[in-house]
Amino acid sequence: MKTMPKIEDVAQYWGRAPLLSHEIATPGSDVYFHRLNEAKVTDSDRFAFAYWDFDGFAGKKVLDIGCGPGWVTVQYAQGGATVSSVDLTDRAVDLAKQHCALRGVQAEIRQGNAESLPFDDRVFDLVVASGVLHHTPDVQKAFSEAFRVTRAGGRGKITLYRKGIAHHLFIFGLTMRIMRLLGMRHPGADLASNSSDVDDFIRRYDGDGNPVGVGKTDKAWAADLRDAGWIVEGHEIHFFPRRFLPMAAWMPVWMHRICDRCFGTMVYFHLIRPDD
Ligand SMILES: C[S@@+](CC[C@H](N)C(=O)[O-])C[C@H]1O[C@@H](n2cnc3c(N)ncnc32)[C@H](O)[C@@H]1O
Repeated sequence: MKTMPKIEDVAQYWGRAPLLSHEIATPGSDVYFHRLNEAKVTDSDRFAFAYWDFDGFAGKKVLDIGCGPGWVTVQYAQGGATVSSVDLTDRAVDLAKQHCALRGVQAEIRQGNAESLPFDDRVFDLVVASGVLHHTPDVQKAFSEAFRVTRAGGRGKITLYRKGIAHHLFIFGLTMRIMRLLGMRHPGADLASNSSDVDDFIRRYDGDGNPVGVGKTDKAWAADLRDAGWIVEGHEIHFFPRRFLPMAAWMPVWMHRICDRCFGTMVYFHLIRPDD
């Protein structure tokens, strides 16, 4: 049986390879932040703006767990929220601070681990974790921590890698073949030719050396979130990575929307911490 990597391995990987650094040469340059925004707005989160509701938390306290280079942090700060952010790596903390300065917004950003958050109980009106908690060794602990720091009646928005139809045992081989046929290139990992199995394929979404990257079915994740105390109000499917297709620019919006809904690689949960 494989042993789960340690939190230090996770920190080392993300310190070395911040989000999208496989695609964008110099993390921290203006062009990096520009392309990060472009990748979010035209691709990964193109159809998720209603889900995030960036303008809906003005004057409220928002926590961004695993903020990376701070795209989500910047959006809520621009919407008027009081934002606190943590990330495992000092590199991400520096990038997120730089990003906020570039956009002229304020946020309190510091190093911290999702599995033991440096905050008191019931502080935040909204806790978000965008594409983060599937990378931490003890995900259940992280779900409980996010719950702990949310006020009673507060909200959670947690997005996670999902096992969808393309990852189904009997369809997975076909998925790999289709990716090869379409010439889908995935920077940092040649997913279509050398993934050993579905779990290996998912782990490497964020780069070959990524130590932890776990995908589950929507139902299995929802059960884990309920075990941590959350009410699962609903979920949405998003993130069909259009930009890895050679003819990406030619895909019309309506087709991208259908792919996003049907073959999205992530599940976006709407969560509530119940009143006591
Ligand atoms: C895929 S990036 C997502 C960044 C950002 N949330 C976004 O959506 O743009 C994952 C980030 O999670 C951070 N991370 C992983 N495990 C963590 C943990 N246990 N606590 C805090 N941050 C963590 C990594 O350092 C990395 O910056």
